[in-house]
Amino acid sequence: MKYKICFPDTEYLPCEMPENSNLADELNASNSPVLFGCRTGLCGTCLIEIIDSAGKLNIPNEIEEEALSIYAPNNQKARLACQVRLQSNISIKTI
Ligand code: FES
Repeated sequence: MKYKICFPDTEYLPCEMPENSNLADELNASNSPVLFGCRTGLCGTCLIEIIDSAGKLNIPNEIEEEALSIYAPNNQKARLACQVRLQSNISIKTI
């Protein structure tokens, strides 16, 4: 099964990825506005806000939770794209 990732209000077209894909494995500078650094959940470069996910996303692990408490402490919709695994269609924006 494949799911769609949308980047509203950007020039980037939606792209499709297999279920449980790690966004860091599939997204790059030419197909998305999301930039990646460490890809391990530490640097915060890939900070995004989930605009819509149909309520289905993997739960952040301890490392991601700690990073989010530093990089986006008051944003309940913030995630690190490198830690997200696709389980539904999602819309995201960089923050
Ligand atoms: S790329 Fe560093 S936290 Fe995601």
